[in-house]
Amino acid sequence: MRQIVTTANGGIEVLKIGQAPDPQPGKGEVVIQVKAAGLNFADILARQGLYPDGPKKPCVMGYEVAGVVEAVGDGIDGGLAGKAVVALTRFGGQAEKVTVRADQIFEKPESLSYEQAAAIPVNYLTAYALLYVMGSLQPNESVLIHNAGGGVGLAALDIAKKIGATSYGTASPGKHEFLRERGLDYPIDYRNQDWLPVLKQLTGGRGVELVIDPIGGGHWKKSYVALRHTGRLGMFGVSAASANGLKGKLKLIKAAVQMPRFHPLGLLGKNRGVFGLNLGHLWHEPEKVAMWMKVLLDGISEGWVRPFVDKAFPFAQAGDAHSYMEARKNIGKVVLVP
Ligand SMILES: NC(=O)c1ccc[n+]([C@@H]2O[C@H](COP(=O)([O-])OP(=O)(O)OC[C@H]3O[C@@H](n4cnc5c(N)ncnc54)[C@H](OP(=O)(O)O)[C@@H]3O)[C@@H](O)[C@H]2O)c1
Repeated sequence: MRQIVTTANGGIEVLKIGQAPDPQPGKGEVVIQVKAAGLNFADILARQGLYPDGPKKPCVMGYEVAGVVEAVGDGIDGGLAGKAVVALTRFGGQAEKVTVRADQIFEKPESLSYEQAAAIPVNYLTAYALLYVMGSLQPNESVLIHNAGGGVGLAALDIAKKIGATSYGTASPGKHEFLRERGLDYPIDYRNQDWLPVLKQLTGGRGVELVIDPIGGGHWKKSYVALRHTGRLGMFGVSAASANGLKGKLKLIKAAVQMPRFHPLGLLGKNRGVFGLNLGHLWHEPEKVAMWMKVLLDGISEGWVRPFVDKAFPFAQAGDAHSYMEARKNIGKVVLVP
């Protein structure tokens, strides 16, 4: 089978198409024939050598796929073979075939293409955990979604709308019209101006009840300042570090140095909460994740979960797919197809 191999740390030239023997399912596992695999920002950071959770190189990245169950291992219902599924993969998803634990597969909604289905797991589970589970967003509250036009951003917008909260979102200006059409109440250009005074002005100086921030470093300080009393800050990424080679390492160090330190008395005095989320550190909680996934997949038929695929790149053009995201061109999800 063919797979996208990240051969070393570096630019897109380190991505190569490799060959590997077809995987066999172990006990409690299934093999999926992949029809579409999600690309995530973590794949880019891993390629750049800035992602501590990534596997040792050479490696095959990929956290999520949609495809067809090809074979089942011991202890798994043989009736699953041939079923269309969506799955979380602990790496290895960007390949023609991948082995996964049976508790990480979910029935693919019939109404979705494989590309659309592959756009659900990481983006929507992350957004659901941030807004609903940990952020506890309420209908009469407001949320600031950073990078609202990205994969997690659009998922967060769907969930904010389902909850009935007022939504503010930072995004490159070219994405604003699309975001308004998707229902974002207040798009904010953060590329050409300081977003904080704009948000303060829009909220009558009060700020918002929830900010979700994947940029990291000093940006988390600024997002904290954007909170209204009883506000929560959800931190879940360090996009600020994205760059190849030494530049990336220096940006990561800068982000680490500029990170805020939260004092309990400060939180208490201002009625604020802070939390972090790393979906990749929830593999030991499959029941929790499956419960969230059920809500999200039900959301497809209910109409409020609307996975949006910007572009599907063939495996052979994986480098172009990375460049597309790095150049901030994507609106919503980028997927890779064999
Ligand atoms: N902790 C977790 O469990 C978890 C899970 C999933 C994702 N994440 C994090 O969430 C963030 C979004 O992930 P995603 O996969 O949905 O990707 P994405 O938002 O689709 O990523 C690309 C977008 O990020 C924005 N961006 C901000 N800073 C950037 C930079 N330095 N370089 C390039 N683009 C930048 C750009 O949008 P603009 O036009 O708005 O600038 C770009 O279009 C990433 O930081 C990722 O690591 C964390």
